[in-house]
Amino acid sequence: MQSFRARVLTPDLDGPGSHPLRWIPDAHVVIDDAGRLVEVAPYTGQPVDEDLRPGVLLPGFVDGHVHYPQTRIVGSASGPLLEWLQRSTFPEESRFSDDTHAREVARIFCAALASAGTTLAFVYASRHETAADAVLDALDQAGLRALVGPVWMDARSPDALTISAERSEEAVRRLADRWHGHDDRLQVAVIPRFAVTSSEAGLRRAGDLSRELGLWATTHLAENTAECDTVAELFGRRYLQVYEDAGLVHDRSVFAHCIHLTDAEWDRFAAAGAVVAHCPDSNAFLGSGNMPTGAVVSRDIPVIIGTDVAAGRSFRVPRILSSAYDNALAAGHELTPATLLWWGTRSGALALGHDHIGAVAPGLDADLVLVDVPPWVDDADGVLAWTLFYADAPLPRRTWVRGRVIWDRDAHAARGGVFPWDLPG
Ligand code: GUN
Ligand code: ZN
Repeated sequence: MQSFRARVLTPDLDGPGSHPLRWIPDAHVVIDDAGRLVEVAPYTGQPVDEDLRPGVLLPGFVDGHVHYPQTRIVGSASGPLLEWLQRSTFPEESRFSDDTHAREVARIFCAALASAGTTLAFVYASRHETAADAVLDALDQAGLRALVGPVWMDARSPDALTISAERSEEAVRRLADRWHGHDDRLQVAVIPRFAVTSSEAGLRRAGDLSRELGLWATTHLAENTAECDTVAELFGRRYLQVYEDAGLVHDRSVFAHCIHLTDAEWDRFAAAGAVVAHCPDSNAFLGSGNMPTGAVVSRDIPVIIGTDVAAGRSFRVPRILSSAYDNALAAGHELTPATLLWWGTRSGALALGHDHIGAVAPGLDADLVLVDVPPWVDDADGVLAWTLFYADAPLPRRTWVRGRVIWDRDAHAARGGVFPWDLPG
């Protein structure tokens, strides 16, 4: 058992309805030995292991779209998308055939996630099975939750990154044997990179595999106009249709970006039960455009937030939620901070089938983040303002997955760590 006194802010279990948030200014939080929250209630004077006030406990963040082999190229200003891939991304991802490099970056990547307060992530590896294995291993060691797969790239890719769909399928099957369901934290996913670097047969093979094994699938969709034009030219159809024909649009598939879709396409997307990974910071940095927030919200399409590192410039989900607010306004839609928190936590968890996390509530696993908020801030609106929109906020003080500490900022600093991945000592 572990017990804390803290301030708590959490979304409601069921979503931003009439009571979207629970704010407990002085809470008693108890975690059992299995890492489950057994009490989250107003504090009534009992002894506790630790008083975390004025820190605020929130649910751990969910990063619904992030590229591990792009960790070292954050901030490469070489967009738009297709040029950025050629100039910055593909050269770096080619290096992941080297297992030493793959394992070193995997360690850095996991430290970046945990220190950002992220507890669950949907992770694209490079096209290399060994690199996917390296990041799964590192995620396991780091205590994180994730869905992970190698990217499939069987067409129109640099030689060093080209791999047949058959080999990608074999790799996913082997990785799934080793990792799928590991410690109830890790899953293996099917990830065709995007239609531009895929053959029609390769996409179909990916769709079939995801359904045969019941694996989550994800890819990029309608991010950039030049990309959409290329897909239309290559496949003779619109982008969403290409994925539909491959059997990739279903209630376990996640599509990143989704900027350039028609209303009729949004209707089909919603009917399929697919999930949008909204990546507004990446969309701004690569000049891709504004995701039409209203089209998604009005259809109740499940939303997860993606940092999309390295096209996105931060591993911190709250930074990306702030961009989501800006993006929505620019697209003519006003989001509430409560909805943003919901997207970054419980909505992300539910959308990825993790109904046992995403809120600070009894019965759920203790996936938590402790953030510093000035002591004079004493209501939910204020905490949201400082957590989501204050760009100079310090890194989270602590992160837990299933009751285990996976990041401790103060201990790290005491050991001389500057970047989150600096080794102790
Ligand atoms: N489309 C295909 N690959 C990528 C990628 O790595 N990042 C982004 N933002 N879009 C892509
Ligand atoms: Zn991406």
